[in-house]
Amino acid sequence: MVKLSVNVDHVATVRQARRADEPDPVAAAVLAELAGADGITCHLRGDRRHIQDEDLRRLREAVRGRLNVEMAATKPMLEAARKYRPHLVTLVPEKPGELTTTGGLDVRRHRKRLREHVRALRRARIDVSIFLDPDLGQVEAAAELGVGTIELNTNAWAIARTERAARRAYDALVAAAARAGELGLVVAAGHGLTVKNVGPIADIPEVEELNIGHSIVARATLLGMEAAVREMLVAMGRFDVLLR
Ligand code: PXP
Repeated sequence: MVKLSVNVDHVATVRQARRADEPDPVAAAVLAELAGADGITCHLRGDRRHIQDEDLRRLREAVRGRLNVEMAATKPMLEAARKYRPHLVTLVPEKPGELTTTGGLDVRRHRKRLREHVRALRRARIDVSIFLDPDLGQVEAAAELGVGTIELNTNAWAIARTERAARRAYDALVAAAARAGELGLVVAAGHGLTVKNVGPIADIPEVEELNIGHSIVARATLLGMEAAVREMLVAMGRFDVLLR
């Protein structure tokens, strides 16, 4: 059964658009979990454009499943991880001014720095994942760093507009997931997933968890969080949701 972790960043984006106190990403997280989500994800960005430190503190208290915090591999973020103690930290690249995370971390290039960072997080007893493009070399380099989980970037699949591009993106994800499975890594996936494109990703045998944000929050603005989470779970083949 593939797990769903709902990313609540963009609930905070709407709040920050007016520097107001609503909508509350913590309330959204509670509703997502009540609707069947297995965990909650948020991204603490250096520029604090959506999730704030106080959100993270409150999420850590409120989330019943696993709290996954995406962050850059920087010193201030290591301090934040030590302070707020999420269950899992997913290391992501972060570029100032980008609309969203644009690609996976280049583990091969930053191997040395990342090794130190992963070690420090593990010393703090925080599980570590790394967001990767579906590339065998990157998967192997991540395994060497001693992380327990990788998250495969599904963006190329999500934006494919020809059958050929979709096939190429999908084959890369299948191969990367298989290699990660052989190396004993837990495989997560995410970025750009919607009810229309999630099915084949949820069907990849090694994929254990999906991290989905924008589409669920977008649908939640029209349908409510419970309906948005439920329709995503059904699209993932999580028919247990029909019995809830
Ligand atoms: N995984 C990672 C590492 C991300 O950075 C994001 C976007 O914050 C997601 C998953 C979720 O992507 P989306 O918001 O497109 O569902």
